[in-house]
Amino acid sequence: MTDTTVIPAGFYKDYPALLSPEGLEAMREHAHRDPDGFWLEQAERVHWHKKPTRGFSGSFTGDVSIRWFEDGQLNVSVCCIDRFLTEKADQVALIAHREGHGPAEKLTYTMLHERVCRLANALSHLGVEKGQRVAICLPMCSEAVVAMLACARIGAVHVVLFGGFSAEGIAERLVDSQAVVVITASTSRRGAKMVPFKETMDAALQRAGASSAVHSMLVVRTSDDPVMMLPGRDHDYHGFVDHFEADFVPVVMKAEDPLFMLYTSGSTGKPKAVVHSCGGYIVWAAYTMGMVYTFRPGDVLWCTADVAWITGHTSVVYGPLANGGTTMISDSLPGHPYPGRWWDLVQENKVTMLFTAPTAVRSMMAEGDEVVLKRDLSSLRLLGVAGEPISPDAWLWYHDVVGQKRCPVADTWWQTETAGVVLGPIAGAQPLKPGSASTPLPGVDMRIIDQQGNTVEGAGEGALCIARSWPGQARTIWGDHARFVQTYFGVAPGQYFTGDGARRDADGYYWITGRMDDVINIAGHRLGTAEVEDVLGEDHRVVESAAVGIPHPVKGEALVVFVIPRKDAAGELTEEGIGRFVAKQLGRYAAPEAVYLVPDLPRTRSGKIVRRLLRKIAQGETENFGDLSALNDMAVVKTLCDRVWAQS
Ligand code: WTA
Repeated sequence: MTDTTVIPAGFYKDYPALLSPEGLEAMREHAHRDPDGFWLEQAERVHWHKKPTRGFSGSFTGDVSIRWFEDGQLNVSVCCIDRFLTEKADQVALIAHREGHGPAEKLTYTMLHERVCRLANALSHLGVEKGQRVAICLPMCSEAVVAMLACARIGAVHVVLFGGFSAEGIAERLVDSQAVVVITASTSRRGAKMVPFKETMDAALQRAGASSAVHSMLVVRTSDDPVMMLPGRDHDYHGFVDHFEADFVPVVMKAEDPLFMLYTSGSTGKPKAVVHSCGGYIVWAAYTMGMVYTFRPGDVLWCTADVAWITGHTSVVYGPLANGGTTMISDSLPGHPYPGRWWDLVQENKVTMLFTAPTAVRSMMAEGDEVVLKRDLSSLRLLGVAGEPISPDAWLWYHDVVGQKRCPVADTWWQTETAGVVLGPIAGAQPLKPGSASTPLPGVDMRIIDQQGNTVEGAGEGALCIARSWPGQARTIWGDHARFVQTYFGVAPGQYFTGDGARRDADGYYWITGRMDDVINIAGHRLGTAEVEDVLGEDHRVVESAAVGIPHPVKGEALVVFVIPRKDAAGELTEEGIGRFVAKQLGRYAAPEAVYLVPDLPRTRSGKIVRRLLRKIAQGETENFGDLSALNDMAVVKTLCDRVWAQS
């Protein structure tokens, strides 16, 4: 299969396209000609307490300031719940399935409103005020969605933390965000593994000590396992929250007040929290999800992402609800407890739109076609992926076997920083090319910048940048605006740099070539190689280390670590021990695929580690090392190769 496979826009005869090809072109043209007018029109997708009269105000140069709909006022929970209480009061807003807990729980818009209000009252009772941070660390359960919306209702800033983070990782984020309340669970199963949410949170708080601002913790009993509660600090979620009143007057927020912050990895050591604000984010969530997913009556969207990622925020919670849709969550894994589990869930819940990560597609593809073909998947009308590259082969399998060539596949490219889809097709309105994330949504001014910093016109390759702000753009890095400016605006003056490289073909379709910085993507989880090296640097027995990503057939990328041990510690450090240490410090998702203890690393004459070479060696390549003339010592390469090959 080559890049040139093109599926014409009209291929899906029965597909209810949102727009005609001409309609899509007209939208692009409008956005280009009159950006402010275009975005103010899109802002009508949500409910405003006071409508904005201005689109963008701010600048991509100098100190960089990003502000949208500045004079507008709203509450995001109203946009996602209250405005549907008359017309859709009894429509299911949320389907929450938990493996091993019987049929899925279904919450109508009325029930969601009630639960969100009770928690909003409870949080207020605990003293949480507008602008304060609340950390949410939960498995995929209805309380996770309720918690985010309750924060929005009282104007608190939510910080959702991934359950797979280590106690150290959570402690660092609690201290950085200065969260005052934590909402977590007792224990939860993820496939065959038990995840000790409460225990990890206790350990994190102990580690953070007086540097943390947490005074209260709500614990959802997600299992019958015994749970240690600290009197005065910990409360049983339902025992505490369910007594509060089922109504809460939403706090009126300015458009630029922050809605949430979310930690993500970058090219330097510490994870950073990007900040998203109320007005721009919710308009963008409503727009991007409305454009790509449409939401027709009766639709059920199942986005399999964890709420702790941006896909979980926008595609699970805010995007579907701002569109008055039905969103489904599940804590199940694709092949657990048996192959085809997800297909049964699609069938049982009549899922119409399935949105997942390429890693999951690859793992389900490995289960074989029979597993899929045995199920009735006729409810599906649209398939989607995001988070990492999908090869044309996996795309076509998803399209042909799962979708039976009836359902378009939307490969969408976006980031924690973009908050919603930036590149992605409008199904039925434009051709699809397997392996390409297609074209920018109307209103997105995407650019390719070459090595000299010039804009590439037409077909070409380079750094993927965006020349004009969009409403859902991250506003800053929490507590470090200088880092925000330096990270995202340093490649081409006046342009946002995504960190990715891309090629644009003659039809204007984008093909992501991968990260240009030292960020790797393991099964859709972003990890900075510098984070791994920082953690290893804490071990005094390690002289130096280098972490690289290599291709992996299912996970997309895997982590490989090279470690130079101190001479007197060589006997103490083991490769397994280092692997366990990294997973413990950062979280299980960061467990290295391989660790090599080595005497030295390949360097340039100026001492810089040559990662390109390490990546090749880690993949077991024996030649095509490219130009090695800059290396200061060729013997190191031979030693490394011997080391890696001896183990493989
Ligand atoms: C990568 C996930 C190829 C990319 C939504 C980006 C993709 C990073 C795609 C952001 C795609 C995301 N094709 N690569 N369709 N979507 N990426 O912040 O490298 O967790 O910069 O957001 O994932 O990861 P993040």
